[in-house]
Amino acid sequence: MRISVIGCGYLGAVHAAAMASLGHDVVGVDVDASRVEQLSLGEAPFYEPGLGELLKAGIASGHLRFTTDIDEVAAASVHFVAVGTPQSLEGKSADLTYVNAAVEGLIPRLAPGSLVVGKSTVPVGTAEELALLIGQRAPHASLAWNPEFLREGFAVQDTLRPDRIVYGVPSDEDAKRVEQLLDQVYAQALTQGTPKVVTNYATAELVKVAANAFLATKISFINAMAEISEVVGADVTQLADAIGHDNRIGRRFLNAGVGFGGGCLPKDIRAFAARAEELGLGESVAFLHEVDAINMRRRSHVIELAESVFEGDVYGKRITILGLSFKPDSDDVRDSPALDVAAGLHARGAQVVATDPQGIANAQTRLPELMFEVDLPDALRNSELVILLTEWAQYKSLDPHLARSLVSNQTDRVTIIDARNVLDPENWQAAGWRYLGLGR
Ligand code: UDX
Repeated sequence: MRISVIGCGYLGAVHAAAMASLGHDVVGVDVDASRVEQLSLGEAPFYEPGLGELLKAGIASGHLRFTTDIDEVAAASVHFVAVGTPQSLEGKSADLTYVNAAVEGLIPRLAPGSLVVGKSTVPVGTAEELALLIGQRAPHASLAWNPEFLREGFAVQDTLRPDRIVYGVPSDEDAKRVEQLLDQVYAQALTQGTPKVVTNYATAELVKVAANAFLATKISFINAMAEISEVVGADVTQLADAIGHDNRIGRRFLNAGVGFGGGCLPKDIRAFAARAEELGLGESVAFLHEVDAINMRRRSHVIELAESVFEGDVYGKRITILGLSFKPDSDDVRDSPALDVAAGLHARGAQVVATDPQGIANAQTRLPELMFEVDLPDALRNSELVILLTEWAQYKSLDPHLARSLVSNQTDRVTIIDARNVLDPENWQAAGWRYLGLGR
């Protein structure tokens, strides 16, 4: 099939490359010329395992190209809208500027029978409005809503082998044709048995925000248990293991720590709550405010723990931050808890030294005032407190004896705050550390 993908960020670039690897002819369009240039060379503009290979293979095969020229979409019959829907500057709702601009850009270029497929996460009701617009100005074309559930770090695998595929289709006689077109796009995944759920627009839009709201709630639930565990002397990791053995609950997404961040969960739960309020349904998702509040408290709690290590004052203390990205295997620092903690300690006068296997460049753009060290031993050298904030494999397997030999020898026991609960407390204590987890 001939496919265009509008917006080549985390979602669009991966989607374009994945579609080309399935044998479709794909053109990716983005307004950012330097990003298009990089993608055209087969280089991933961000760290995402497997994406570089997929881009190079797609470009070499002739099935994949990138451009800034929207006119080049005209030959395609299926157009994916994969632009961002960031949190709006004036509130918590989603900013639809880019989605609207993408659809406006497509309308004059839609061939008869072509299909616009929304992938961006949007407030419920958006697709219906866009369908009306397309109906008025390009009545020979159709709209579908096909949310994406990819996780950064696993984006390629999640796109090629998703857990499920959701089609939001029109409610008229066009529905079957739209479904068949999407079946052709996703033929391979469907043949492999990927479940398909065909819905109306509103359901498809809601599936995405509901899934993210559920995941965020699960994380904040266990973090609330961590708050309680910490006061009563319980261990939240054992608690999570024990309740996770119940299949109805499940152990995944029950890791207590510094909480969730990234380009999706925080903004999506806020936009969901804002949309529900607009609809007069604020009460139905009022709990999401609590989910958000618990999550944000995690960041201040880590700062307070750091202060407690120095009797309330971190001023002038050399503190090492391990991890800047919002999660491992990603260089994304958007709404990263680690970055917030680093900034908070810096603001209190600490001498913060931060390191990350992939996230330094992005973190530096946001917080140029921090001190960054690419080399892990250099970051640890003479440190008076170490805080593990992102559970990269190299930090989880860090040798506590080696680390102890690098940090300050001014005090008897240097403290490590394990803000992801991934280290073995006994090993670290045996190597001469004071270990502080979150909720254990
Ligand atoms: C998420 C959804 O998983 C994905 O389906 C959706 O399409 C986009 O948003 P992503 O933002 O890539 O994906 O990250 P995810 O793996 O979900 O992690 C989100 C955050 O939760 C991270 O900051 C992570 O560290 C945190 N987290 C996750 C926890 O704090 N505890 C857990 O147990 C799991």
